[in-house]
Amino acid sequence: MNDPHIWWYLTRASALIAWVLMTMSVLWGILLSTRVMRRIDNPAWLQDLHRYLGGLTLLMVALHMVTLMLDGWLQFSLAETLVPFATDFKPLAVSLGIIAFYILFAVQATSLVMNKLPRKFWKGLHYSSYVALLLVALHAGWTGTDVGAWWYRVLAIVLIGVATISVSVRIITGTKTGGASKPDSAKSSTPPAEELRPAPLQRETRTMVVGSISPVADDVLAIRLLPLGGGQLPVWHPGAHITLHLPNGLERQYSLCGDPAERTHFDIAVLKTVTSEGGSEWIHSSLTPGMTLEVSGPHNHFELEPANEYLFIAGGIGITPIKGMIESLPERRKWKLVYAGRSRTSMAFLDELLERYPDRIEVFASDENEGTLDVYALTSASKAEVYCCGPESLMSSVASFVPAERMHLERFIALSRDSIIPAAPIEVTCKKSRKSFVVDSDESILEALEENGLPIIGSCKKGVCGTCEVRVVEGKPIHLDSVMDDEEKDRLKVMYPCVSRAESGKLVLDI
Ligand code: FES
Repeated sequence: MNDPHIWWYLTRASALIAWVLMTMSVLWGILLSTRVMRRIDNPAWLQDLHRYLGGLTLLMVALHMVTLMLDGWLQFSLAETLVPFATDFKPLAVSLGIIAFYILFAVQATSLVMNKLPRKFWKGLHYSSYVALLLVALHAGWTGTDVGAWWYRVLAIVLIGVATISVSVRIITGTKTGGASKPDSAKSSTPPAEELRPAPLQRETRTMVVGSISPVADDVLAIRLLPLGGGQLPVWHPGAHITLHLPNGLERQYSLCGDPAERTHFDIAVLKTVTSEGGSEWIHSSLTPGMTLEVSGPHNHFELEPANEYLFIAGGIGITPIKGMIESLPERRKWKLVYAGRSRTSMAFLDELLERYPDRIEVFASDENEGTLDVYALTSASKAEVYCCGPESLMSSVASFVPAERMHLERFIALSRDSIIPAAPIEVTCKKSRKSFVVDSDESILEALEENGLPIIGSCKKGVCGTCEVRVVEGKPIHLDSVMDDEEKDRLKVMYPCVSRAESGKLVLDI
């Protein structure tokens, strides 16, 4: 501290460290969002690293600014440090650095509350960190005291090179995604950290050709769908489902069960149910290779969130979304699958999964065991994130033993949920279209929205598929659907108007 130049050294060092950290943070975010790291491993703590690098960058920038003020030679005032063009010393170059600081601050601050912000706004702001990186490079090249030094030039070339290549890769891969026949609407496998919420549901359909149909278990057909005319399909993430629009007028949702990295086809598996209302029955009896089908989606309400350890529990055909999740995980990720079914011959993909992951799968076939699966023993010793799909009895049993914050369920059939509040008329205001109307007590909000010409589509109309999702601007919905946890819907401010009502008697919807 006796060295009069100490603040000068510190301001130079902190600036360089901030530049390095920022470049690493952007690079890391791009590696995560493009899934380049999938084959290596990207457990949750590495995803957090992206955030930590951003936070540390901001700290270093703050240190750089403080030490600029403390340095006896430059003697920057507070205004000169915080207000663009307030200094006489290289005003444009200094201002670029100040603007970069504000962008960084905004990116970091909004990331802390990203769940409370509109997705597009947060994402757009997050991408502005590329601009900040460019401003920092200009600022460093223009104001840096060490610009003439050989090591500074080497460092600058490396940092600018890394940033340029990373951003180019992100732009190219982003363009590929957007160039598919329909925009991406799904979210989060080992999901890119910035894609933890699905984009608004898309209504368009695409024509697909049935490429192959093959039996994979008793009464279960594996079906591969190819885009008509070829090309790449939209990016999707594990847990996503598509909707088949069948020629008999029915719409049915099926989970994607292939590898999310494969963009040339969709794989689904269809169980012929005894209670079929004409969906699975038609598929099993009438669908043949070469036929075309209208398909919408993918949509996702069962997203695989980043974690260090997973426990998957699948019952019967509930293996389909789970299989997609397993396919997406890095090879060294810790996970275990408990797969239950009536008999081994009724369990789709069982042989394939056992062959590939013999040490990670526990099979419970009812015809080989007395009694039922001991869900308590399975779940009580585990601290893993639990993903469960299957019969309602299995899911409610698992949910009764696993804390809600670690529990993830996907339902195929609607829960029986009666409103504790008597059905009453609801005053609905549609903010974007500026329409208001009253929904009668015996009418669904979805029906009223459709009647009033609002751009919304329902599919199952039972609160299962999630197609009719709409954002709530004001009012408290009574959730009567089976799509996600009610807390999750409230957190995301969404509702499913095909079955849900409103506690307040008033709703303002973002439609
Ligand atoms: S239409 Fe399926 S959840 Fe509303």
